[in-house]
Amino acid sequence: MENIAKDPVLVTGAAGFIGHAVATRLIARGESVIGIDNLNDYYDPALKAARLANLNALDNFLFAEMDVSDDAGVKTLVQSHGVQRIIHLAAQAGVRYSIENPFAYQKSNLQGHLSLLEASRHAANFQHLVYASSSSVYGDKPIGGAGFTEEEPATDPVSLYAATKRSCELMSQSYAKLYGFPQTGLRFFTVYGPWGRPDMAYFGFTKKILAGEAIEVYGEGKMARDFTYIDDIVDGILGSLDNPPDQGAHRVLNIGDSRPVGLMDMIKALENALGIEAEKIMRPMQPGDVTSTYADISKLHALTGYEPEVMLEDGLKRFVQWYREFYGNLAPD
Ligand SMILES: NC(=O)c1ccc[n+]([C@@H]2O[C@H](COP(=O)([O-])OP(=O)(O)OC[C@H]3O[C@@H](n4cnc5c(N)ncnc54)[C@H](O)[C@@H]3O)[C@@H](O)[C@H]2O)c1
Repeated sequence: MENIAKDPVLVTGAAGFIGHAVATRLIARGESVIGIDNLNDYYDPALKAARLANLNALDNFLFAEMDVSDDAGVKTLVQSHGVQRIIHLAAQAGVRYSIENPFAYQKSNLQGHLSLLEASRHAANFQHLVYASSSSVYGDKPIGGAGFTEEEPATDPVSLYAATKRSCELMSQSYAKLYGFPQTGLRFFTVYGPWGRPDMAYFGFTKKILAGEAIEVYGEGKMARDFTYIDDIVDGILGSLDNPPDQGAHRVLNIGDSRPVGLMDMIKALENALGIEAEKIMRPMQPGDVTSTYADISKLHALTGYEPEVMLEDGLKRFVQWYREFYGNLAPD
């Protein structure tokens, strides 16, 4: 692999939704980025290829097609480029798919996280590992309660996905104690926006509504989510990266929007953005789903000034605009 400018940031899952946005912003602010992704086909590989093409068109971006569970490969990459900062986003995401394909979660999430921990611990002058956790570690909570705070026990994951994410936090905690390098785990709350993930509800609804098909609304529409716009998430990730904890410390921070929106209100906002009313079929809750999640973001705010700006109505308009440009109003396969 060719060489890249000094002090690159390693971004895993760079062809993914959040990774693509983070890598783009890092390069825009003058950093060099090394991206890793295994380009798996969990969802439309053409979308991952298009994100990667965006990144490959930029100076100061290098791509390695690699599985994060390849611990030797990751370690060599980190050492040969003198990587001191890592944003680890590669994972098998999604709650429902963990019912179908549990071992993908073990390999990508557990073994993958351990690879990144090992690579960080062996890196010279290592500064900071920022990694993706998930709001799913909080389990279930009735609508109308206060937002989740990081201090709340996260002992009862309701899906294998959540269990792997919580396990990653615990592995990080032990590595911080044992080897003393700074780490931040970010508990993301439903991220959405242009270049988003086709397996997420707002994306699937858009595809169906444009195709004139009915949408299935699970949990009878009673679920509420903290929808966080991608640009706001990137602000929070880079704010965290730039403000590492002390040597040896591991912290876990919520990163969300903190203004929960009911599923039916989200659908209304999407219908408005599309200018089409959806035909809706109401369905019961699915295994592993949680009724309501939203973040108490005061810790991240105090540390970095993080303040989400984009309201759901605006963010969905931007998503729909991107969708129409990218897919030309046609449903992807
Ligand atoms: N988007 C959200 O709402 C959300 C919410 C909570 C947590 N997260 C977490 O944030 C991170 C990024 O999520 P995203 O929405 O960008 O998902 P994504 O699926 O779009 O991105 C993940 C990327 O990682 C790659 N990848 C998966 N397994 C890999 C492996 N073993 N080796 C190398 N690459 C691999 C995939 O090909 C993909 O491009 C994930 O860790 C996810 O669990 C996301």
